[in-house]
Parts: sequence; structure tokens; C-alpha cells
Amino acid sequence: MSSGRSAGEAGGPKLGLPGWVYRDERFFRGEIDKVLLPSWQVVCHQSDIPAPGDFRRLDFAGKPIFVVRGEDTEVRAFYNVCRHRASRLLDGDASGAGHCRRGRIVCPYHGWTYDLEGRLRGVPDRAAYDDFEDAGWGLNTPEIEIWHGFIFIRCRPGGAGVAEMMAPWEDAIAPYRFADMRALGRVTLRPRAVNWKTIVENYADGLHIPVAHPGLSALSAGSYRLEADESVMHMSADVPEQGTGSWSVRGYSRYLPPVEHLPPALRRRWNYFLLWPNLAFDIYPDQVDFMQMIPLGPRHTLIREIPYGHPDGRREMAAARYLNWRINRQVNAEDRDLIERVQAGMDSGVFRQGPLSRNEICLRALAQRLREALPEAIEPDPPAYPE
Ligand code: FES
Ligand SMILES: [Fe+2]
Repeated sequence: MSSGRSAGEAGGPKLGLPGWVYRDERFFRGEIDKVLLPSWQVVCHQSDIPAPGDFRRLDFAGKPIFVVRGEDTEVRAFYNVCRHRASRLLDGDASGAGHCRRGRIVCPYHGWTYDLEGRLRGVPDRAAYDDFEDAGWGLNTPEIEIWHGFIFIRCRPGGAGVAEMMAPWEDAIAPYRFADMRALGRVTLRPRAVNWKTIVENYADGLHIPVAHPGLSALSAGSYRLEADESVMHMSADVPEQGTGSWSVRGYSRYLPPVEHLPPALRRRWNYFLLWPNLAFDIYPDQVDFMQMIPLGPRHTLIREIPYGHPDGRREMAAARYLNWRINRQVNAEDRDLIERVQAGMDSGVFRQGPLSRNEICLRALAQRLREALPEAIEPDPPAYPE
């Protein structure tokens, strides 16, 4: 196992978060400000934008962002907002992918033009602006960090970087060689009528696996483990050689081929990493995906997801990837039902707070971290917010 330490054994909260924090508009605005905008968000993988001018968009918590590869092959991040009259600059396709032609970002409103380094290069009727210096009107930038090939941005600076946050887990992650991976599919966007924390907590909830996911429990054969530190939760399980249960599970157990670059202990391990506050990496021997919970409102969240893997022409690998997808399609359907049940209960006003088992170290760590940012999340009822 990696070097993560357990959290919340003695000093953590014994009660989970109160129901009102899953539905309250003002609390949600506080979360955007104190939790979500100061956090790192993945945009895509560096292989998704291989050529100069290739870009990917991400709209997160009201901030429109894009990352683009420059003529010098560097990847940069910018706000997708024109400096003239604030128009959105780049559209891209439904998944936010596109290409800037001739190395230029051209605003569709009045034609201001920027280069791929964000510098203002062209202004129609420039002489009509008083005291105008192009140098002062380049695109605004969020922070950017590339971690094992994944491109992250952060709207509000301060606090640890991605690599720093993930340092305790580096030994567990480095063997997968994320940087050499390529997308195995397209971005999927799944809207859910629930609070973002309802999804995040369900992801890190260990107790429901044997009860609510028969397929996943058959696959992990009781080996499910939880670990947590301040910023990262880790759930993992090992797939036995002979699986039981559905044919997808049995087939996956049987066909999953050895992945030579992984050490033997990881060749049949399923890992789930949750990076505070809203980003999950599902790391399997056959592929990895990220799953990002994008909050749209107190009761609305978009799940943004895409898988990546190493080029591998083996038929057994194709079978394992397909069966993995089938197993997780079933798990997702089960989880969708669970999170909707929970959100309905949180919305009802009947639920105030529930107890957290000593074994729910991830849920304890998540509740503690949220309360550090927003101390009112300890109260069973919403505070009287000033008008
Ligand atoms: S808003 Fe972009 S050129 Fe005017
Ligand atoms: Fe689940």
C-alpha cells in the first residue's frame, strides 16, 4: 500500500454533514468561493491537444477557461473572455475541443485577435482608442500545472500544487505512466439533479459497496480498502483470477492480460483516487479515467468523464476494456439511483445529520475538510445569513 495515513480515527467528526448544506443556495455560493475556485481542475490530457492551435475548453464554477498549445509547443491556459467587451472567444465542439487556425484566436464580436501566447495582436480601428498599448491587453490567465500528462488549472491561486498534493501517492501512481496515455473515447457529460457533494461522498463511501453493488463486490471479492489524507482519498481492491457473479465480471477476471510495465501487485488492482474537492481518477490496469463533478447549482451537477489508456493491440486487452466499461455502466446506474435517493432525503428537510462509522475514513476526512473552509457546515440548521 502507499504511504497515505488514516484520518479521523479519534479527532474527526462523528456526525456527517447536515442536510441543508446539500440544498442551500447561499452555502453553495460559499463553496464556489472558498472550496471550488481555489481547487485544481483537470481540463484534458496533453495528448488531446497535440498540435499548435489545438485547444480544449472547460467551464467551471462560472469561469470559462481554455488550454491551448502554442507554436513553441508549450501548453498555456487562458480565460475564454475577450479583453474588449467580454465576449466568449472560442467555442469548439460539444466536448469543448477545437483548433485555432493560423495561430490566432479571433474574437467573433469585433475581431480582436490574440496569438497562442495570449498577446493581443490585432485591433480593428486601433487609432480610435486613446492611449492604447497592446501589451496591457493580453488574455487573463488562471494557474496551470501539468501532472503526469494531465493539464490542470486553478482559478484562485494559493495552497499546494497538484504534484505536491499527490506526493504521498506518487509511488502508487508513477508506474501507470499516465503521460504516455491517449484518449480511448470522447468526453461524456452526464447531468445529475443532485448536489456535487452527494456524488463525491457516494464515490468515497465504502459501506455501500457490498450492499448496493453486487457486481463490483464480486469483482473485488471483499478486498475493498480505504485510505485518506488531507487532500486525497484512496479506495482500492484486487481482482481475483477467478471472478464470480455476472459474465462481465467473470470475463474481466479471466481476460485481463498482464500489463508488463506495472509491478505485479498492481496488475489486478482497481484504484479510485478522489482529489479534494471534486475530482476522481479511476485507475485500472487496463485504463484510467477522470471523473469531474462540475457544480452547476445546489441541486445540479455535471459529471464530466473520459478514459485514457496505452496503445495495446491485444484482443484480451480490448475484451478487458469492453468488460470494464460494462461493469462500470452497471455501477453507474446503481450509483445514480443511490445519489437520487440521498438527494431527495437531503431536500426533504426531514434529515438533519447522520452518524459516520469509524470505518468511513474518507467521509470523515471530506466532512472535516469542508468544515475547515466553511465552519457553518457543523451546524444542524442553516445560519441566519446576513441579507
Ligand atoms: S468583445 Fe471581443 S472584440 Fe469586442
Ligand atoms: Fe457506488
